[in-house]
This record gives sequence, C-alpha cells and structure tokens, in this order.
Amino acid sequence: MQSCCRREWWKDAVLYQIYPRSFKDSDGDGIGDINGIIEKLDYFTFLGIQGLWLSPMYKSPMKDFGYDISNLTDIDPLFGNLEDFKNLLEAAHKRDLKIIMDFVPNHTSDQHPWFQKSLKREDPYTDYYVWRDGDKDKIPNNWLSVFGRTSWTWYDERKQWNYHAFIPEQPDLNYENPRVLEDMKKALAFWMDLGVDGFRYDAVVNLIEDQRFLDEPLSGDPNAKPIEHEYLRHIYTEDLPKIFTTLKEFSEVIKDFETKTGRDNLIVSEAYVTPKVSMEYYELSDIDMPYNFGLTYLNKTCDVSCYSEKIKEWMDVMSRNRWPNWVVSNHDRARISTRVGEQYIDAIHSLMLLLPGTPQFYYGDEIGMENINVTFEETQDPWGKNLGPVRYVLYSRDPNRSPMQWDASHMAGFTTANISWLPVHPDYKTRNVEVQKIRKFSHLNIFRALVWLRKYPSFRDKNLFYGPITDNIYSFGRYMPGNRGFYIILNLGHQPDTYPYDQHPKKMQDHASNVILFTGSLQDTYKVGQEIDLKDLRLNPGDGLVLTGKYNNLFPN
Ligand code: NOJ
Ligand code: MG
Repeated sequence: MQSCCRREWWKDAVLYQIYPRSFKDSDGDGIGDINGIIEKLDYFTFLGIQGLWLSPMYKSPMKDFGYDISNLTDIDPLFGNLEDFKNLLEAAHKRDLKIIMDFVPNHTSDQHPWFQKSLKREDPYTDYYVWRDGDKDKIPNNWLSVFGRTSWTWYDERKQWNYHAFIPEQPDLNYENPRVLEDMKKALAFWMDLGVDGFRYDAVVNLIEDQRFLDEPLSGDPNAKPIEHEYLRHIYTEDLPKIFTTLKEFSEVIKDFETKTGRDNLIVSEAYVTPKVSMEYYELSDIDMPYNFGLTYLNKTCDVSCYSEKIKEWMDVMSRNRWPNWVVSNHDRARISTRVGEQYIDAIHSLMLLLPGTPQFYYGDEIGMENINVTFEETQDPWGKNLGPVRYVLYSRDPNRSPMQWDASHMAGFTTANISWLPVHPDYKTRNVEVQKIRKFSHLNIFRALVWLRKYPSFRDKNLFYGPITDNIYSFGRYMPGNRGFYIILNLGHQPDTYPYDQHPKKMQDHASNVILFTGSLQDTYKVGQEIDLKDLRLNPGDGLVLTGKYNNLFPN
C-alpha cells in the first residue's frame, strides 16, 4: 500500500508473472509445481526481478486451472503443500524476492464446502451464493458468462438457479451477505500471516450484480455470436459502484496488517477498463496499481499511433501520487511475440522497462516465447471448449500457457515426463534460456541490460519527455535534474524510417549523443559508447537505440 513516509518496494521493482502449471515441474507429472519454482529462484536474481506474482495454487478441481478454488487456505497437491509454500516464501525472501498471491474474491469452486452447504440450504451458507427462484424451464434472464453461454445453472437440490460470471463450476459469491466479506477477509489474513507480500485481485469488475436481475441490452457488436459475452452490454453485471467499497474493505484489512507489522504489501487489480475507470479503483478502493492493460491490445496492424495513444492516455491520468505500470501479456492474452511479431520484442521491452513506473512480464516473454497451436480436440481451456470447434481459436488461452523453455534438452528442461499438460513449443531447441544466455544480443540479454539500465536515478520517478514521432518512430526522454539523462528512439512501425531530426528537441541539440544500448538490426552498425549523429539515423522495424549524453545533463533546463 502507498505509504506516507517511505518509498514502497514495488515502485522500483520489475515484476514477473509465473503461471505455476507451466513454469517448472519437479516431480515428473508434467505439471509445474512449487518445488520447481524454488529450483529456479536464482533465475530471477540473474534477470534482476524483485517480485513474482503467482497465478493460483490453491486447492482446486482445476476446471479453470486454479481459478476455481475449493479451499482458500490450502495448496493443491498438484503444486505441493503448505510446507512447500512456506519454503518458497523463505527461499524467495532470502533473495529479496517478493511473492504476490492471486486473490479470487468473485467466486469459489462448486466443490468449496460453502457451496456444498449452500446447496443444502445449510445456514449460515444458504445465501453465500447468488440463487434465484424460477421455473426449471425458464432461465432467470439473458445474462451471459464471460466464457460464453448462459451464466445460470439449475440445481435440482435447491430447485433454484445459480449465477456464475464464469463457468458453472465457479459460482459467484453473494456480497449482499456481509458474512461472505468477513470470511474472504479471513482468507487474506491467513496468507498475510504466512508472509506473502501482496495480492492481485482477480476479476474485480464481476464482483457485484444488480439485484433487480434485469435483462442486459444487446451490445450491437456485429462480430459477436449470441452465446458470446460480447453480445450484451453488461450494465447489470459489471463495473457496479458497490465493487469499489467492497474492495476497499479488503484493502483496509491489508492496511491494518501493515500498520501492525510495518510490512508493505502490493495490491494490484485486474480490470480491463479505460484508464479513467482504472483510477476509480485507485481512488475508491485503495488499490496500489490497477493494471494498465492498454498495451495488451497491441497487434500486428499497429503502427506507432497504437503505442503512443495508449502511453499518453495512461500517463495523462497519472497525476499526484499515482504510480504507472505496464503489462503487454499474461495468462489470458496471446503472447506478445505472437501478437506483434518477434522482431518488436526488444523494442517493447525497452518501452516497458524505460517508461516511468513498474513493468510486469509474463514468464517466457523475456526470451520471446511464442503461442503454441492447439487443436479443438486438444483444448483444455473452458473458454475455448465452450465456444466450439470454429470459434475456440479466438478464445482458448491454452496457446499462451505452454511450458517454459529452459534449455534444448528433453521437454525443454521443463519436465522429465514424456508428456506435459500442454505441449512444449516446437521451437524450444533454438529458443530457450540457456541458448539466449550465451548469445550476446539475445532477447534475454537485452532484457537484462534494460533492467540494469533502469537503476539510473532518471528512471526512478515519473518524468517523461515525449520526443518526436512518425508512423514508425517513437521517441522519449527520461531525465531527473542533476542526473544523467537518456533518450530512447524505437521503430515500432512496419517501414524503415529516419529519425525526424528537424523536430528533435532544440534543448538537446548541443549534447552529443552516445549509444548506450541498441536492439534489432543496429547491433551490426553501432558500438556501445559510440557518438552518433542523429541527422541521418535510420531504423528498421523493431530497431531501438538508447542514447545518453557525454554531459551529465542531456536535458538542460
Ligand atoms: C481472470 C483470470 O485472469 C482468468 O484466468 C480466470 O479464468 C478468470 N478471472 C476467472 O477467475
Ligand atoms: Mg509436478
């Protein structure tokens, strides 16, 4: 949480998301686990990472691969046990690595004892979930699950309909019942007592439902099929005002804990909303960093305007003590290499690591991992399965969850098993951590150089100087008075292009620029320390340059 008097650890951190099923398998069952993560902790020291967010490892029937939780205070045997988790915390903390847990307030598994008791109308659990009277043959309203199809399931036991924003096995908790909130607070306290360093609040937009249960209007989206979530405008099931006060109650529990212990937890929230709406989470719910998902919409058709608009839109709302953050991919979105093309990876990493704020990377992006191909028969993700053999490709998240590619050995060094839960990408022999460690200008080594570079004071606050842009070139500067300044020029477009020197900020003109880092095809052209003339600087798509002045002050006042 933001503190009045000291700098929070997460403001200087580079964060990394581990999808535990796919990171490292220690026991040969083809599924990643806690001891696997422990084995690989030195990798994060090598990368320069300070915080790990772990997707859920709670006890779960795995219908949504851990986001369906049947025990909020235990670890699933697939991943290990609570002792293993404590060992992970200890081993991570020894390396100054923080651990962020996933917290899923919207729903539990249908196998959670609360739901099982609710089914039987056993008090106090009768109203822990969202139940509606009605006729078995008549669904309560037109609401659609995020994963497609109706969000209502009929239970003969109660002779009632049950609401689920996601799959039927993920019934929504009923926050109209104050006991639910209290019980969920206890789960947070359990993990804080154990020593975790923060939480990522899952699916917060879905937390509250309008109690009139009215039909939602059609969205008019011509691309959406009637069973798909995008078919409706979610005015009664998403973004309702009570979400903010409910989340604030969780934040209060965390704050109290911090006051008592002097620890500093990071709270991030997952909501795909506009930057303006994101700020409501910040203001009304005391979230440290509502995720900035603007750059998760990048795709192959993007020229510089996609990037520059999203960056500006986000930085414009970063007033006062709000702190920026950057995300390009995660376990719900196609891999960034696949979405924009591998040649842009280093340039995108330059943006994420050199723009102001805290970046969060998805495992494997540091080596430019690509999506795998998954047939409909192979698809395990309920989102893909729900939408059938034609549309699944648009929704299945299996392609971006393939095993981490550690080396060129059996199964990319992920597992000793012959089959992993999802296939290893066929390019693992040439794309893996070990190979990229040795190659000087690999994605991995450029990533590490950028992580090292951002330790300069000029990268530590929110200063950002927009440089000139063209359809292809994006440029920006970072400078904190009294410190060495930096100027970054990237080609994020699709054509070779020349830096628009006629628009180069006058103030910087006298200050010869020295190359400090380069990406893409420029490695054959430049040397570190070389002085360059910006007048005829030409960059190919994906090329990037980081420049610094000979003088300490690249951006004189
Ligand atoms: C958002 C998570 O990121 C996603 O993976 C999950 O399926 C849904 N919430 C449901 O919990
Ligand atoms: Mg395992």
